[in-house]
Amino acid sequence: MNIVEKIISNFVNNKSLYIGEKVTMTEHMIQSAMLAEKNKSSSSLICASLLHDYGHFILDNPDKLVNQKEDGKHEDVAYRYLKKYFKKNVVEPIKIHVKAKRYLARNQKYYRILSQASKVSLHLQGGVMNEEESEKFEKEKFFDDAIKLRKFDEAAKKIGIKMKNINNYKSLLNSNLL
Ligand SMILES: [Fe+2]
Repeated sequence: MNIVEKIISNFVNNKSLYIGEKVTMTEHMIQSAMLAEKNKSSSSLICASLLHDYGHFILDNPDKLVNQKEDGKHEDVAYRYLKKYFKKNVVEPIKIHVKAKRYLARNQKYYRILSQASKVSLHLQGGVMNEEESEKFEKEKFFDDAIKLRKFDEAAKKIGIKMKNINNYKSLLNSNLL
């Protein structure tokens, strides 16, 4: 099974809920990709949105977790795994999408729209960035895409909307491989 087939099979078979939310992890990531498309994002950003929480699928597999001595940092888990297969502009925004939340949460308005689960995880992830961390973060090469990805991420938790199927993204996934 090649990587794209493996990803599609994980999306189809994983039924776990997105921690603390009402949608499944699969629905959440597909909704993120749909929002990226709606915003006329680049192919790499749509692909990054589709795969941004893929680390949770890997972490769900305890054997793999033990073998790779991973901790729970899902963005790093996804990055280390996906960078073997996908282009830099797909995997780099994924790597920093949690940092983007810590950056955006400095804004009160943004903080207020975070779901309860997202507020809880924010604190586990290091909390709101301070001034020094923010300035450093703004200089990251994939800062813009990471911020956009984060905004799609935050909005991709809707129930009862018309969903695309993971198979609709097969050619997009293939075109973003190394
Ligand atoms: Fe997410």
